Amino acid sequence: MAIRGEIEFPGDKSISHRALMLASLAFDQSRIKNLSTGNDIQSTRKCLEACGINIKNDKNEIIVEGNTFSNPIGPLYCGNSGTTARLMFGLLAGRGIQATFTGDESLSSRPMDRIMIPLSKMGLKYKSTNGKLPVSIEHSNLNGIEYESVIASAQLKSAIILAGLGANNETVIIEPLQSRDHTEIMLTSMGANIQTDGLSTSVEPLCSELRSIDITVPGDPSTASFFVAAASLIPDSNIIIKNILLNPTRGRFFSVIKEMGGNIQCIDRFEQAGEAIGNLAISYQELSSITINGQDVPALIDELPILAILATQAKGTTIVNGAGELRVKECDRIKAICLNLKKMGGDILELEDGFIINGPTKLHGAKIETFYDHRIAMAFTIAGLITESEVILDHPECASTSFPEFYSVLERVHQ
Ligand code: S3P
Repeated sequence: MAIRGEIEFPGDKSISHRALMLASLAFDQSRIKNLSTGNDIQSTRKCLEACGINIKNDKNEIIVEGNTFSNPIGPLYCGNSGTTARLMFGLLAGRGIQATFTGDESLSSRPMDRIMIPLSKMGLKYKSTNGKLPVSIEHSNLNGIEYESVIASAQLKSAIILAGLGANNETVIIEPLQSRDHTEIMLTSMGANIQTDGLSTSVEPLCSELRSIDITVPGDPSTASFFVAAASLIPDSNIIIKNILLNPTRGRFFSVIKEMGGNIQCIDRFEQAGEAIGNLAISYQELSSITINGQDVPALIDELPILAILATQAKGTTIVNGAGELRVKECDRIKAICLNLKKMGGDILELEDGFIINGPTKLHGAKIETFYDHRIAMAFTIAGLITESEVILDHPECASTSFPEFYSVLERVHQ
């Protein structure tokens, strides 16, 4: 069986979080189409609603009434979503809202101090245990700062930008490598004063009303990567992916496929609200190995689990290093990738900040531990398409974190 057909994906998860959050800052009504269907976006929606923002479904659109913030009555439960928690810290700090954030077991083990340290330098008063959830923030007057981060993280950058909108003076954030820039693009289109100069981003406090948003969220390239990989792995495959986000801070996976010898072509490209979008055609082609270094990682971070699966079938030695951030994602993804690929017969060596894979190797079925991580579940489901014996996931349902329709879409195109 091959992978065939045309797929249009639900909206990008990162842009969907931002569309809901930034719409909540606008004075007028915003309209969002093709919002991500993932559970993480429901977490953001519920947190905003608990803070007094009115969000309703209207046919195929979501309507957000902005600028009606109030203190939430109970804790804000962020579920599994790091983007919800981290961006909401900055958003609510900038609005002077008092709130307590909680999350599921995975989110409660992830570092939040990377956000709380710069926000406290801006004057935010907060409480947390060991820099993790639960975190409580208090109404505080914020001052602009210049902050040089050692981590290339869009969540960190976005939290500081959002807090900076409510500060007394300019805020500057400098990152070591460029991370995704959707917050800057969307805020600029709404009329905020954001300037980017290389790795430095500055934001002026809001002095006038932000314009509302009317957006169709482009398809999620991180979700698409699982189908691009499947088509690249299975002979006779041929798929078209429509209206997919091609923002260069996110698109490294597609160029990596090309560099590995894969057959991927952009058949149409256009721009909408400052974001690059396009249609892609992908067909089966034998792959060769690749080396991924630290500077490639931010634009590829969420695609590294599926890249590991591809590397097992590529000829030669694939090296991924400089990817230590994988250890603090929804699970320790380096550990999860290595443990599960070894179970399937893969030739993989674990590094502190990545892994080395020799290929090609014939993989066999195994019982996969997902650690409740959606990208581990989806990556190993794709690996299961090329094994003779069955791949069994302990928690397949966790794919719903970003893409509840994953298994049904896969079933439709796997023919
Ligand atoms: C995201 C940024 C990335 C990414 C995550 C979504 C975002 O995290 O891994 O899935 O929407 O800003 P970091 O900012 O921690 O790198």
